[in-house]
Amino acid sequence: MMPTEDAAWVGAELARRFGLPYWSFSLTATDANRWAIRLVRALTGRSRILFHSYCYHGSVDESLIVLDGSGRPAARPGNVGAPTDVLTTSRVVEINDLDGLARELAHGDVAAVLIEPALTNIGIVLPEPGYLAGVRELTTAAGTLLIHDETHTFSAGPGGVTGRDGLRPDAVTIGKAIAGGIPCGAYGLSAELADRALGRADLDLVDMGGVGGTLAGNPLSMAAARATLGEVLTDDAFAGMIALTDRLTASLRATVAGAGLPWSVVQLGARVEVRFTSPAPRTGTDSNAGSDADLDDFLHLFAANRGVLLTPFHNMALTCPATTASDVDRYAAVFADAVATLVGQASS
Ligand SMILES: Cc1ncc(COP(=O)(O)O)c(C=O)c1O
Repeated sequence: MMPTEDAAWVGAELARRFGLPYWSFSLTATDANRWAIRLVRALTGRSRILFHSYCYHGSVDESLIVLDGSGRPAARPGNVGAPTDVLTTSRVVEINDLDGLARELAHGDVAAVLIEPALTNIGIVLPEPGYLAGVRELTTAAGTLLIHDETHTFSAGPGGVTGRDGLRPDAVTIGKAIAGGIPCGAYGLSAELADRALGRADLDLVDMGGVGGTLAGNPLSMAAARATLGEVLTDDAFAGMIALTDRLTASLRATVAGAGLPWSVVQLGARVEVRFTSPAPRTGTDSNAGSDADLDDFLHLFAANRGVLLTPFHNMALTCPATTASDVDRYAAVFADAVATLVGQASS
């Protein structure tokens, strides 16, 4: 509950990287999103939050919405014990669909668009050229705020996609890697949004307002975030990680092309993912259609049996500052072996 010098340092460093001047802390990215949502609802007086179909932003009730097989909004399957029907709190569009976004914003009830600047939780779906600029334009015109969740897209560079591409959202949320595994989330506000919040003396932002928590910004989390951002996930480290991921992506692509498989390999900075569909999906729905649980299991087990442990979800790999060229080459070789085995079995 008491601020530390490390918190001020971390806030200033996040401001340098993401371009938003004011930062508050939580313990998880989920809570950073929840609290940002509270704030934008309070500041706009509007009730709904709009998401990309097949997004993931943590266990945030409002985000468990998807476009179903006929393109209609629906509760995301598996949404357990929902407090209220998600169709009353949220709206949903496909990534890369500016017409759909314009149509949904026209209802006039969307407090904020909360998006990853590239989808990363249903494979990687990159924004097409002009899409994120279009989102900014449409949200501004509709009086809707724009929140970038950079929790995963942080892989794009020291300031995520927002910093890399010089984007100007009203808020950014983040967590996970910023404190190297010690619980820490954060949300940053633009000067304009912070002014709006500070101008509202009626809002209880320190006690019963539904925002904040006792251990948010605690000294251990802040020291970990300072050490991580100051000494581990530095600008130089990102340059090295991204160069190694370029090398990994090239190897994975060569394997897929060599085997003639209808798969795609998509890279976002230090993150790369193989998807069982080609060309690379341009929406969450396309990418979901390219899921194959058996193939996932095969690739994970094949790699684990050869000493390469992948993260348990889909086929995502991230390089970290300690990753070496030989680590990357080892995974690429195991992947090539797995593909050769698969193709060999299919043809025999
Ligand atoms: C984009 C994004 N935002 C937020 C979260 C939530 O992070 P946490 O589970 O650490 O709260 C996740 C988790 O995967 C995520 O992918």
